[in-house]
Formats: sequence, structure tokens, C-alpha cells
Amino acid sequence: MEPIEVRDVTRLFRTKSEEIWALKGVSFEVHEGEIYGLLGPNGAGKTTMIRILSTLLYPTTGRAYVLGHDVVKEPEKIHPYINSLSGGENSGYGIVTAYDNLWFFGNLYGLPFGEVRKRIKILAEAMEITHKLKTKFNKLSTGEKQKINLIRALLNDPRVLFLDEPTLGLDIEASRKIREFIKSWVRETGASVIWTTHYMHEAEEMCDRIGIIKEGKIIASGTVEEIKSAVKKIYKARVKFMDGSRIETKEFYMSDPVELGNHVETLVREGFKILDVDREEVSLEEAFVELVFKNSETDDGQSDDKDQDVSHIPG
Ligand SMILES: Nc1ncnc2c1ncn2[C@@H]1O[C@H](COP(=O)(O)OP(=O)(O)OP(=O)(O)O)[C@@H](O)[C@H]1O
Ligand SMILES: [Mg+2]
Repeated sequence: MEPIEVRDVTRLFRTKSEEIWALKGVSFEVHEGEIYGLLGPNGAGKTTMIRILSTLLYPTTGRAYVLGHDVVKEPEKIHPYINSLSGGENSGYGIVTAYDNLWFFGNLYGLPFGEVRKRIKILAEAMEITHKLKTKFNKLSTGEKQKINLIRALLNDPRVLFLDEPTLGLDIEASRKIREFIKSWVRETGASVIWTTHYMHEAEEMCDRIGIIKEGKIIASGTVEEIKSAVKKIYKARVKFMDGSRIETKEFYMSDPVELGNHVETLVREGFKILDVDREEVSLEEAFVELVFKNSETDDGQSDDKDQDVSHIPG
């Protein structure tokens, strides 16, 4: 069994005025030593999925397994081996030091004292935050707090780690430090990570595979390359040419790079002088926008209305 397996999970939220299907039948798995990116617009269901996997929330239907244990039936067998961290999280006790916060959580996780001390030291050095350990938590900057939160999340050396927008609001340096650290930590330990983010460059850099979730359903999944090729127009070219005395630029999106020759030929035939041609693959961000916001153009004719029909989902 894979460290994370999700099978046709749905989740219904009932409020006074409405019923919201936050998840409408989600399935995926995460391998050992893999960072799996869960990407999707606001309200797509990412946090709900992570809360189910961290056993904080029951699925309405379907099954989810972490390290071979059913999240509903055996949460206590999962707890020692998982941890999580979210961005913009207001965790930590403000009036005690960063160190005491970590000490408290280490004990809460039931780790031996010596082990807690050792791990705080090693992790703080790796995160370059040792000099702030004696500072009261509420005196730390957002990035410093998040480094401490990350140390907290790694204290029990989890086999499965859930990171829900872990770099939200961090500066370039803090965010890079966290990314680099997680990457090498996963490589060393073979742990499995689910990483959600709205920063596409981050997903591109970090994630071995990605699932794109929209309105509670995974609409595309695979490696970054596979996600890009789910979008028909995978190549982009910019052609700069002279139109009389003016310099003009045209952009073309293509499914096959050979189409570029045709576009250039047409421009030449129309009498324009080509100045420059440059071609690149579409970015993950462009593919994401295409899939999530313009899905009707790339899918197989199913309308968006049909996607939103939840009447078939058991309640
Ligand atoms: N406790 C709750 N009660 C009612 N509705 C909820 C609850 N939690 C989440 N929802 C709804 O479920 C849907 C999915 O929310 P979720 O927080 O999982 O989205 P998300 O993908 O994490 O979004 P974001 O990118 O904004 O964090 C949303 O429509 C949200 O309003
Ligand atoms: Mg969320």
C-alpha cells in the first residue's frame, strides 16, 4: 500500500442555509519519498482533503488510508507518524520563547527529553534560526515563526507531512529556505508530503506530481510535464517583426512546435520582416489557468454545468 491512498472521497458541509460538497469523489495516492502538490483555486477543497488525511475531519463517503491505516477506523495508529503545517497559521504560544514552544510540542508528541533537545538543535541549525530560539514567540517575524512551526512539524520525524500553503506570506529568502529544507529532508528520509500552494513556480520546483482540484474534483494529475500536455496548446512563441517602420510582436500558442514555421511563413508572405522568434513551453501557471478557468475549451465537450451537478453524489 502507498503511504497515502485516497479512494473516491466526498465531503459534505451542511450550514444553516446550504449544503456544500467540498469534495466530490477524489482519488489519488502519494508514493514514498514523493512531494505531491494539490493545486486549485480558493474553495476547491484542498484544506478539506488535508484535514481528512490528518484525521481532523471524517469523509462523508469514500475511504482514505495513511500508512495503511483507515483515517476513520484507526486514527490513533496514524497520529505518531504524521504532522502538518499551514501558512498564516496562528499557532504557538506568544508569551513563551520559541524554544519553550518547541519543547512543549516535543513533550506533547511523547518524545524522550533528550531526543527533543537534540532535534530542536539540529533542525534550528538547519533552518538558520538558532539565534532566535530564546526570543518570545510573539516577537518573531512571520517568516521566523514559520521556521519554528516547521521545526515543530518535524519534531516527531513524520513519515507523512501535510503542508498547507506553508510559504504563505513569507519573503523570498524564508520561503526558499523552507523549500530547500523540505526537499532535502524528503530525499533523506523518504517521507511523503502533500503540499498545497497558490504559487505555481513553487509547485513546479517542489512537486514530483501534481493533482489539480477544482470544485471538489481532480481535473488533471501527473508530473508537471503531464499537466502541461493535458493542455492542448503547450508551446508558446513570440515573433517580433517590422510592420512598415513599427516593431510589432505576435504571440502564438501551439500544440506542435512545427506550427511555428507556418506562422512565420505567413508573416513573411504578407511582407513583414521578421526580427526575432523565440519559443518556450507554456508555464505551469498558464496550463493551470487554461485547465481551471477555461476548462470548457480544452475538455471533451462536457459542459461546466454538468461538472457542477452534484445530485448523483450520495449524501
Ligand atoms: N467547516 C466548514 N463548514 C462549511 N463549509 C466549509 C467548511 N470548511 C470548508 N467549507 C467549504 O468547503 C469548500 C472547500 O473549502 P477548502 O477550505 O477545502 O478550500 P481550499 O481549496 O483549501 O481553498 P483555499 O485555497 O482558499 O484555502 C469551500 O466552499 C468552503 O467554503
Ligand atoms: Mg485552504
